[in-house]
This record gives sequence, structure tokens and C-alpha cells, in this order.
Amino acid sequence: MQARRHVALKDSIRSIPDYPKPGIIFRDITTLLSDPRSFRRAVDALVHPYAGGGIAQVAGIEARGFILGGAIAHQLSCGFVPIRKKGKLPHKTVKMAYALEYGTDEIEIHVDAVKPGDRVLLVDDLIATGGTATAAINLLKQIGAEIVAACFVIDLPEIGGAQRLRDLGVEVRTLMEFE
Ligand code: PRP
Ligand code: ADE
Repeated sequence: MQARRHVALKDSIRSIPDYPKPGIIFRDITTLLSDPRSFRRAVDALVHPYAGGGIAQVAGIEARGFILGGAIAHQLSCGFVPIRKKGKLPHKTVKMAYALEYGTDEIEIHVDAVKPGDRVLLVDDLIATGGTATAAINLLKQIGAEIVAACFVIDLPEIGGAQRLRDLGVEVRTLMEFE
């Protein structure tokens, strides 16, 4: 029988130096997504703690949080809510600006994206400074969501975002760390 090769999930991430700016090592999840086994393993691992946990909506952050969040919402049989970069959502929104590891940006959510008290799982591919996730959590709270947890494939712990969210009382789950 042919031996099966189990590639560690972390090995499915491609690291690109000096992108999008000198000094940043970009952790590229497209190589995880295009590998069927890795994609399934990542989604299953993120879903597992919340299966049967009464999640009403998964909120995914544009752009890579949409891919993971859609798959997670499908597995949890719950809804999906997009948190988008400014100017993309057609209905009335609430907005928030935030700082990134390599710049600033603004995200928004439809005012009626969740029902008051809905239990929401926030999903993105990576947490670095936590600026994006903190802004997303603030938006979700503004429209009445209960944040159950925030989950990410990748944590960059030296930058400290996951710890910042935990210090705010948010449950954070991540699958791997990079320096
Ligand atoms: C990346 C990543 C997270 C965010 C994390 O998105 O997908 O959303 O950065 O950084 P933070 O923890 O420092 O806020 P990016 O802003 O590059 O946008 P994109 O997904 O549209 O490319
Ligand atoms: N978002 C913020 N920092 C990042 C990094 N190093 N790689 C990929 N996405 C990021």
C-alpha cells in the first residue's frame, strides 16, 4: 500500500518576503485553499469548537474571511454576514476606520445584518495587529450582535493582536503561528 503523505497544515501556507511592502513577510493562504485536504482540515478545525453551539451568523472579513467564513457557515448551517471594505455594500451601513500592519483602511457592515442578540462567530484568515478584527467586533456590537468568538487560520503573536482581543474579553482561536 502506498504511504499517505500528511503535510502539516502550516506547510500549506506560502510566505512571500517584502510583500506588500519591504520588511513584511506576507503569509499567503491561497496555497492552503487550493489544496483540498488542507482546506478541509482548516475549515473543520475552525468549525469544531462551535458545532451545535447555536451560532446564528458567521461574520467574514473581506476578502479572505469570505472564503473561510462561507465554508464555516455552511458547515454550521448558519447564515453568513459580509464585513466589507468601504463603498461596497449597497444598503445602509455602519463604518469604522482602523490601522493595519501596512497602512489604514475602513470597513463597514449593513445595519440590519444581524438580529439583536444573534450569536456571531467572526472569521478571518489572519490576525496581526488585531486592528481589523477589533473594528469588525465594534461594528458587530453596534448592530446588536453577541460575539461568541473570533477565529483565524494564522496568528502573528509577536504583533500582539490576538492577545489584544483576549484582553478585551473576546475568545480567540487560531490554528497556527508565524513569527
Ligand atoms: C489582512 C488579513 C486581515 C488583516 C489582518 O487583510 O486578511 O483581514 O490583514 O491585519 P490586522 O490584524 O493587523 O488588522 P488586508 O487588510 O491585507 O486586506 P485584504 O484581505 O482585502 O487583502
Ligand atoms: N495582514 C497583516 N499582516 C499580514 C501578513 N504578514 N500576511 C498576510 N496578511 C497580513
